[in-house]
Amino acid sequence: MANEIDWSNLPFGYVKTDYNVRCLYRDGKWGEIEVSDSENINIHMAATALHYGQEIFEGLKAFRGVDGKIRIFRMEENARRFRSSAEGLLMEPVPEDLFCRMCIQAVKLNERFIPPYGTGASLYIRPLEIGMTPRVGVKEADEYLFIVLVTPVGPYFKGGFRNTNLCITREYDRAAPRGTGRFKCGGNYAASLTAGKMAHDKGYSAVLYLDPKEKKYLDECGPANFYAIKDGKYITPASDSILPSITNMSLMTLAEDMGIPVERRHITIDELRDVSEAAACGTAAVCSPVGEIDDLDTGEKYIISRDGKPGPVTTEFYNRLSAIRSGEMEDTHGWITIVE
Ligand code: PLP
Ligand code: COI
Repeated sequence: MANEIDWSNLPFGYVKTDYNVRCLYRDGKWGEIEVSDSENINIHMAATALHYGQEIFEGLKAFRGVDGKIRIFRMEENARRFRSSAEGLLMEPVPEDLFCRMCIQAVKLNERFIPPYGTGASLYIRPLEIGMTPRVGVKEADEYLFIVLVTPVGPYFKGGFRNTNLCITREYDRAAPRGTGRFKCGGNYAASLTAGKMAHDKGYSAVLYLDPKEKKYLDECGPANFYAIKDGKYITPASDSILPSITNMSLMTLAEDMGIPVERRHITIDELRDVSEAAACGTAAVCSPVGEIDDLDTGEKYIISRDGKPGPVTTEFYNRLSAIRSGEMEDTHGWITIVE
């Protein structure tokens, strides 16, 4: 029950909420929005989602502000990326206004699960779409289910805003050079599970993947993008095999606001020797500062933080993002939807 949740110590996990909202695409059109209090779905055992991976999802957050208002961060961008993921997997794109309406409805229906202001927690919104048509031959579905569920969450990496360590390995890729890495589909995460477990077992929070073609450049982390601060510049990988992160896009804008030049380009592993800060960034990760990056194949250890503390730029990013999301700082870029 919502009144029993220890908001300040919430992990990034699933907590049952009251309702989810659903919409079915059938006979060439999206149907009525349905509100459900069931956590289950009824799916044909031969559905394309189960056999051929026709599954895409999104992740965005709603926050309770200092003024008591509910704010959702950059929802239209998630709607746009969801459309791109659908197109990438030959699924039916969800109209952006339907996506937004259903996210807002799911938040409103579960208002009592929005963590209070100041707890560091938020209501995570997880839209997902699955192919429902039974197929044995490899072919796209013609029926799709779109669901928006929500769950209150705390920080993704243990300990919240403090340094975390990453590792590099050439043993695994999460995506192929011209594969599905830029789409938010379940298959990419399935592909990252073995390497992710290996990293966790060795004490790292995540793998920092290399570009899958040449294994020369940094790509992204299993659940987040990557950036570093080098010679006073914000540098972040340009790659076709990474997810275009909305958090990363926002940080590039904040960097420009702060007078920090931004470079989106190939970043070689060697460059890690000369960076003053690094972080994993994403909706779940926010901007998680990196202390050390270890190359498990060469044995090289890149010490990013010498004092064990998050760097000044990442700290300022974190504070600005938090302030915009809670209504303490003006939303000058039009990133916020206020839920009325
Ligand atoms: N990269 C991957 C693989 C992710 O799963 C995520 C999380 O959504 C991100 C990057 C960050 O994207 P965003 O900032 O839009 O949440
Ligand atoms: C998010 O940041 O929203 C994600 O989807 C990452 C996920 C692997 C938890």
